[in-house]
This record gives sequence, C-alpha cells and structure tokens, in this order.
Amino acid sequence: MSFPITRLRRLRKSPAIRNMVRETVVNRDDLIMPYFVCPGEGVRNPIKSMPGNYQLSVDLLVEEIKDLYSTTGIDKVLLFGIPEKKDEDGSVACHQDAIVPRAIRALKKAVPEVMIVADVCNCEYTTHGHCGTIVDGDVNNDLTLKTLAAQSVTLAEAGADIVAPSDMMDGRVAAIRKALDENGFENTPIMAYSAKYASAFYGPFRDAAESAPQFGDRSTYQMDPANSNEALREVREDINEGADMVMVKPALSYLDVINRVKATFNIPVVAYNVSGEFSMVKAAAQNGWIDEKRIIKEILTSIKRAGADIIITYHAKEFVLNSVSP
Ligand code: PBG
Repeated sequence: MSFPITRLRRLRKSPAIRNMVRETVVNRDDLIMPYFVCPGEGVRNPIKSMPGNYQLSVDLLVEEIKDLYSTTGIDKVLLFGIPEKKDEDGSVACHQDAIVPRAIRALKKAVPEVMIVADVCNCEYTTHGHCGTIVDGDVNNDLTLKTLAAQSVTLAEAGADIVAPSDMMDGRVAAIRKALDENGFENTPIMAYSAKYASAFYGPFRDAAESAPQFGDRSTYQMDPANSNEALREVREDINEGADMVMVKPALSYLDVINRVKATFNIPVVAYNVSGEFSMVKAAAQNGWIDEKRIIKEILTSIKRAGADIIITYHAKEFVLNSVSP
C-alpha cells in the first residue's frame, strides 16, 4: 500500500506515540566512562583539549568515581595511566606498584560496585610513545606480545574486571588469553580493540595520556581508515583467538564498520566514541554553534542504532545527568 493509504506521519503525531515506536534508546547500562590516572596526591590537571576531563591522582580518581556512581548510577569505567617513569618496552606497567594497578586496588576498596575495564597498551609507558617494542625503527609484533601479556596479568591481579588490549598487534588476544588462564584468570573477559583505525581523532587523547609517538605514526599497526573488509578479518581473528567482545574505534566516521561487524558476528560489539569526536562537540558548544545536549543524544543514539551494544564515551556522565533532569 502506498499514499494515501500509507501515511507515515500517523506514527509521529504525539510524544506518546513517538516514544512508543522508537527503535533505539541509549541506556545508562550501555555506557562506559573513561578516566586518566596520574601519580601524586590531590592532583587534578585539566586536559585542555578535552574540556571537563582531568588527569586525576588515585585519591581524586576514587572521589570522582564515587561521585559518578552515586549521581548517575554508571558502574563501568575504563582506566588509562600516566606513569611517573617510562621505559623502552613498557615493562614499567607490569608491576603491582604501577599507576593503574594502584588505582584499581584503591577503587575496588572504595567502590566495589563499579566494574573496571583496564586498557592494555604500551604507548603510555614507552619513552618513544609507540604501542610496543621497537626493533629497526618499527614496532616488533612478537616481542610486544610478551609485555602485553605481562601487563594484562598484572591488571587482572590488581582486580581489573575486564582487560581491553588496544595495541593492534597480531595474535595478542591469544597471547593474553593464554597468560590470563595460566595465572588463574580464566574468568576475566577480553574486550578487544579489534578494528582500531590509525585515526586523527585520537589527537586530544594523546595530550591526555601523554602518549603521542615521538617518531613516525601508528599506521604499521593500526588500520587504514579506507578499509572495512579488513575490519571483518581483524574481528574474525580476535574472536577465534578468544575475544569475548570486539570493538570498533573511532565510532562516528566508522558507523558502517560497526554495522557490518554487528551484522556478521554474533558477539557483543563495543564502539569507542573517541577524544576527537568528544572535543569537536565541546568546541562547537563553547562557541554557541550547536545545541550540545541534543547533539550528544543524537550521536550516542546513532552509534547504538548502527549496531553497538556498548559505547565508551567521555559524554557518559553528562549524558546520564542530562537525561534525568527535565
Ligand atoms: C592506546 C589508546 C589510544 C586510545 C585508546 N587507547 C590512543 C592511540 O591509539 O593513539 C584513543 C582514545 C581516544 O582518542 O579517546 N593505544
């Protein structure tokens, strides 16, 4: 049947009917809020390129996550660390007194209800800022697997609920799964950054985590933004190696990839609404050019509509606060 029998406007007539037929709703439980933890006490360094985000020392991180949980009910966070010292291969992150393990222990004591996802990567911990061990001017895949596995076990021992490797080395999910299992962490899930692109949208994050590469870029390990068939191969490999969830990152310029992954695989799909996507919204809002609350809701809804089950976003806290207020 077509017009005049079919009139699609009938189902748009009132808020009640629109609410009834709405296909996609972003829920608080879909969201993971990222944080940056740094050494010291009482430290709250504003991240200039990410308004409203801070490098927090462990004590203030604990306060912030208590506040997150009590004001919004969000009970999922992702942690990144800024270490006091860096080294050649990131082994500084493989000890219980490293910054993220310390933060995890403090959080588990203070707010045990909050689930902690620990990012696994070397770029915050290496002097050169690359995600792995350098041999002959490039990141060596198989050597890097060793530090990634060791870092994952350290994080699980500290109490991380989920480990999330973001390095894009081949075979890392298998290496991490094996190391976790050998150390008694067979029940710790792996959230794999499977289709992670070599993206300019990570710019503000590299200020936040002080992790910009000191030479070259990440295009020998992160994916070419032009490819989506390859994303399906990456996801398939990670699932075969034992990933429990797979991620597409960034989100907004890759909604087609999220959609293909969701349509192809029967596994929870995570999308990372990254720093550059966040900061562009903030910049436009500060200029009064956009309606920020509506934009944030539309962005998160579109990421979910594309097929994401879970969204990592710096907007998580404000989104939930905005949606409870009138
Ligand atoms: C570490 C890592 C990065 C992000 C998450 N994990 C940066 C990078 O690959 O350079 C980016 C997150 C964001 O931009 O919000 N490898």
